Formats: sequence, C-alpha cells, structure tokens
Amino acid sequence: MGYPKGTGPEFQVVYADEKVGNLRDLLGSRTNYDLWHVDQTFTPNTPGITFFWVLEVPASGGGDTAFTSLTAAYNALSPAFREGLHHLKLLHTSASVGEIARVGQERALKEAVKTEHPLVISHPVTKKPVLFVNPTIARQVVGYKPSESEMLLGFLHDHIRSLDFSCRVSWEKGTVVVWDQRTTAHSAVPDFKDGERRHMVRIISYGGQPQPL
Ligand SMILES: [Fe+2]
Repeated sequence: MGYPKGTGPEFQVVYADEKVGNLRDLLGSRTNYDLWHVDQTFTPNTPGITFFWVLEVPASGGGDTAFTSLTAAYNALSPAFREGLHHLKLLHTSASVGEIARVGQERALKEAVKTEHPLVISHPVTKKPVLFVNPTIARQVVGYKPSESEMLLGFLHDHIRSLDFSCRVSWEKGTVVVWDQRTTAHSAVPDFKDGERRHMVRIISYGGQPQPL
C-alpha cells in the first residue's frame, strides 16, 4: 500500500505489474483465488464509504472486482438461525490471510492488531441488520472452540458468496465504484495475465465503531 507522491495517505494505490502485487503468486497454488473481505476491520473504528477507481486495466482483460451484500445475506437466513447469531462476536485481526502470506505467520501474529466486533451489526444510518463477517480478517467466533468456530464461519463464508447477493464489476477507463464497507464485502478477481499492469486508487472514509442490533 502507498499513495502517489505529492498527494497524501488518504489515497491508497492498489497496483500489480510484473514485479509486485500478483495475488496468485502471493497465495500460492490454490483451486480458486476469491478473497472476500471488508477492508481493515481489525481496529475499533471500521471503514465507511469507499471510492475505488481505475487508472489502468490489464491489457488483455480481467482484473474485475466482485461485491456481495451482507444485508441481503442476513435477510436470507431464517429468523430462528439469525437469533443464534445476534449475541456472537468475531475476533478481527490484522494477521489476515494475505498478511500471513506476505510477511509469514510468526511476524504477522506478533505484530497483529486485534479487536472484537458483533457478528450482526446495525447499520448506523439505515439501522438494518448486517451479517458482519470478514473471511480473511475475522476467522474466530469469540468463546467458541476452534472446530465450532470453523463450522459456523465455514457456512457463513460460503453463504455470502452466493450469486443471490453478489455482483461483479468489469473495470473500464473512467469507472468509479462507491460502496459502503459496513454492508458490503468485496473480492479481487486475479485472473489477468502475469506481468500485466493493473493500477487502481481508492479512498476510504472511517465509519465509526460497529454496533450490535
Ligand atoms: Fe479490499
């Protein structure tokens, strides 16, 4: 992460070329590379609205970004199942899947910033419930044994990926996507050719501390 010279840290560059930023290299051999997440939720205050736009798309195509609605995902659950989620919290940590791949597990865990947020939050403006899961950053249900946590989060992470709630943006010159991190998870689609340049910029406003229902 960085920002263009002469601007300020408010602008974050998301960049890949032949030398840096190849997600497939970073994560190693996998059967798929979706990496659903909400940005930077490991601090007490979490992101609000995000502006994300493209400077350069890969020459031979690809490099889409996928989005999924965590409000629609909550609404699709049965009332009885929702009840069981309302009092749970998740541990969010900066030792994310991507960070462990980047700096190694030992360093990532040692330097980790952690916080707990409710699993179901109330959107601060609409007051609608949101299934506030974050598959790369929040991988432990507070108070659950590891296998219990894996079972519940495995189901919820699979649930939010459904085509019922998600869409996929193909970037063209001039495309700007604006989304609310408190109700939306997103994933890179690293399907473009190795070595091709993809150059994006984003601004994220901080949205406050997530509140339970
Ligand atoms: Fe992201």
